[in-house]
Amino acid sequence: MCSFKMHTLKLNLKESSYNIIIGSNILDNLGKYIRQLNIGPDAYVITNAFIKNRYGGLLNKSLKKSGFTLKFKIVPDTEKSKSIEVATSVIKDITHYDKKRRIFIVAFGGGVIGDLAGFVASIYKRGIPYIQVPTTLLAQVDSSIGGKTAVDLSQGKNLVGAFYQPRLVFSDIGILRTLDKRQVQSGLSEVIKYGIIKDTELFNYIEKGYQGILDLKLPALEFIVTRASKIKARIVEQDEREEKGIRTILNFGHTIGHAIEAAAKYKGYNHGEAIALGMLVASDISTELNLIDTITAQRIESLITAVGLPTKIGKISCGEIIKMHYHDKKFTGSQNKLVLIKGIGKTKVIKNIPLKIIRQALKKRT
Ligand code: GLY
Repeated sequence: MCSFKMHTLKLNLKESSYNIIIGSNILDNLGKYIRQLNIGPDAYVITNAFIKNRYGGLLNKSLKKSGFTLKFKIVPDTEKSKSIEVATSVIKDITHYDKKRRIFIVAFGGGVIGDLAGFVASIYKRGIPYIQVPTTLLAQVDSSIGGKTAVDLSQGKNLVGAFYQPRLVFSDIGILRTLDKRQVQSGLSEVIKYGIIKDTELFNYIEKGYQGILDLKLPALEFIVTRASKIKARIVEQDEREEKGIRTILNFGHTIGHAIEAAAKYKGYNHGEAIALGMLVASDISTELNLIDTITAQRIESLITAVGLPTKIGKISCGEIIKMHYHDKKFTGSQNKLVLIKGIGKTKVIKNIPLKIIRQALKKRT
């Protein structure tokens, strides 16, 4: 039998520091942790149908045991839930439940639910506290940490939102064991990203141990979730609002990845798959600009292939991807800006990359 520690990581920010708790089968303790925050007696839990059926009872028991009242709100776990319309309908529902004591929100699901719940928390009554209880690998290692909340518009993803930090991130890695393989691969794509941009040891670990991760072995999941959460926390601490060019490195693979998702009309590729393709294109551009050698680029491609993520873009037109990449909300004017790499663990942000080079890198992947 394996035994697991609970890890407590602190994310230090001037006025809104919080803890990230990581452990296996720890949901039973959630109520106790929330109680310590003194954020009110009434919980509004935004979740999806699968998570509610599978784990809602446990969460309910844990919160009630600690003296909270709670109401579940089920929303579909698809990108469509990240809309102004769904946010408005959730807020109207909250007003019926709000007992005019103090209410807080619990985001109990993957990235979509975390982003929506955080957005609603940021605007309801000019802001109420919220807790992230991420249930996918992708949400545990990335979207639940750092306070980026948003909904989409037809003009683009995440166009309306705020930086609004949660009061606690509570990652139960036991829940990851009910993920399907594609969801695990999608989250693993973000973990590989952390290895490439910041952590050679993590990259080496995944190279050797990816099978254990895909087989959902708890020690492997515990290692990658803790390591990735720590990297994300340290980056957010230094540049909470992405103003200093530090948090920017988390966008490695994302500018092209988002453009691929948009060009494919959010069908076919999930987020992690599109990011894997974006990382390959960024790595090919880095090779072309002599920032890395072909051996490093090959190592990245071999790992992405080994974990079963895509290496070919398929039928989407390069022209459409290039058009979409100009919609990146972080670009200034018509200048593009990509996070590239100088080696495993080292990044370099380059502006105004000639389209010819981007097109050539995309072509290699079609
Ligand atoms: N997912 C990128 C960030 O939080 O900055």
